[in-house]
Amino acid sequence: MKMTDFISPELITGGLETRFIGQRVIHFLSHGSTMEAARQEARRAAAEGTVVITEEQMAGRGRVKRVWLSPRGSISLSVVLYPAIYQLPYLIMLTSVAVARSIEATAGLKAQLKWPNDVLIEGKKVCGTLIENELQGDKVAWAIIGIGINANIRMRDFPEIAATATSLSDELGKNISRVEIIRRLLVEMEKLYLSLGDGELIYQEWRNRLITLGRRVQVVEGEKTLVGVAEAVSKDGILVLRHDDGSVSHVVAGDVTLRDTVRAPRRR
Ligand code: BTN
Repeated sequence: MKMTDFISPELITGGLETRFIGQRVIHFLSHGSTMEAARQEARRAAAEGTVVITEEQMAGRGRVKRVWLSPRGSISLSVVLYPAIYQLPYLIMLTSVAVARSIEATAGLKAQLKWPNDVLIEGKKVCGTLIENELQGDKVAWAIIGIGINANIRMRDFPEIAATATSLSDELGKNISRVEIIRRLLVEMEKLYLSLGDGELIYQEWRNRLITLGRRVQVVEGEKTLVGVAEAVSKDGILVLRHDDGSVSHVVAGDVTLRDTVRAPRRR
């Protein structure tokens, strides 16, 4: 690893322009999953905004219990938050938008969002995000935001995902400072978190950045495979899918594959 790519809590927190997100950073050289470490922190009532980051994960997890590859050179981090219950649906939106903004600002690459929570560059996945939370009655005990970014990794070393995934270094043809991306990401996350309000602004930016809308897609939702045009997303993140027979499905979570090359007319 090049010196410019060195990560330490001090490099992240030093002069960081946030009130709480990233003001406390726990850094591991190797860990099973930052989701686990952050969960333990949350159960001990860690300060809100505590960040757990590791150079590599041995048991990184993705959505729907998938494995998430987290080799050295990637960014694997989790953030502990204590949101109000009405803020929960917006966490996934604010995270994806914050990642997109930080990639654009630091790498100068155009980032796209694919419903529900992927960040892409030129149609290939560069980042996945994951939210886990625990409820106590009608309150959120804690929420953990997990973010995995393919930063400085060569995708040709990972042929199993190389067809659908990319990395920032592959896109740029050179390594990028992970500290710079992380610092920008934490600032963007806090800005969006503190200004959530009724969620309308974050919902609009998230929706406007989605490449999924107006496209013919296949959605795998558990055992079911649905095909149709992704017509809209509701404010609570649900995808509205219009089938060829005119009927409509509302999809809460699933894996989307784009099935066209040309956009259908976009309706809101
Ligand atoms: C996905 O797209 O399936 C979500 C991937 C989330 C990966 C991140 S890496 C940091 C955190 N720790 C984990 O084990 N997973 C999340």
